[in-house]
Amino acid sequence: MIPYCTRTCEKLLCKSGICQRVASLYYDHVIEKEIALANITSEDKVVCIGGGSTPFTACLIAEKTGAQVTVIDYDKCVMEKARNFILKWNLDTKVTLECVDGLVYNVSKYTVVHVAMQVTPQRAVYQRMLHSMSVGGRLILRRPRVFLSPFYEALPVAEYEKAYENVWHPFSMMKGSCLFLKNEVRLIGA
Ligand SMILES: C[S@@+](CC[C@H](N)C(=O)[O-])C[C@H]1O[C@@H](n2cnc3c(N)ncnc32)[C@H](O)[C@@H]1O
Repeated sequence: MIPYCTRTCEKLLCKSGICQRVASLYYDHVIEKEIALANITSEDKVVCIGGGSTPFTACLIAEKTGAQVTVIDYDKCVMEKARNFILKWNLDTKVTLECVDGLVYNVSKYTVVHVAMQVTPQRAVYQRMLHSMSVGGRLILRRPRVFLSPFYEALPVAEYEKAYENVWHPFSMMKGSCLFLKNEVRLIGA
């Protein structure tokens, strides 16, 4: 339901550059906190899993840090809109788009992995990321508010509590963002 609503809003937003900038204010503070949480700099190679047709997270990370960012989505229908979105933000040299399922994606060449809250199956993708990340890699996972958890594929609370550090987002659908470090996390089932 909520992933469907997000996709619908994104389709509407694709039409106007001004609306995109206004809507990006929703993400702005969240991204600032996530950049600080994972200490993302221009030296990092970042991958965002689940960008949709309006990849705000990927573009704001690239814009604010100067890092090279790859954004992936398994839905080929969003590719053209996402490409236009990146072009409108003049980030085509900084943000690369790929159509691939996070479930089979190897993230070993990235130093930072960011997983959107709408990504499914959330737990399996999270596990896949942790397994394919290089040691020292940082993984940012967004955590939905408790009352919204049924609408997302939220992880069990105990899983979020394994995070190395968290930041909280009081005015958002996200409760917070959790930072996992490859060498700090006991892999699920390991
Ligand atoms: C609606 S977007 C939200 C991202 C938001 N625009 C941002 O910038 O943070 C979520 C996207 O995740 C994609 N997605 C869900 N599961 C995925 C997976 N396993 N691999 C890749 N993309 C996935 C969906 O196709 C959808 O377009």
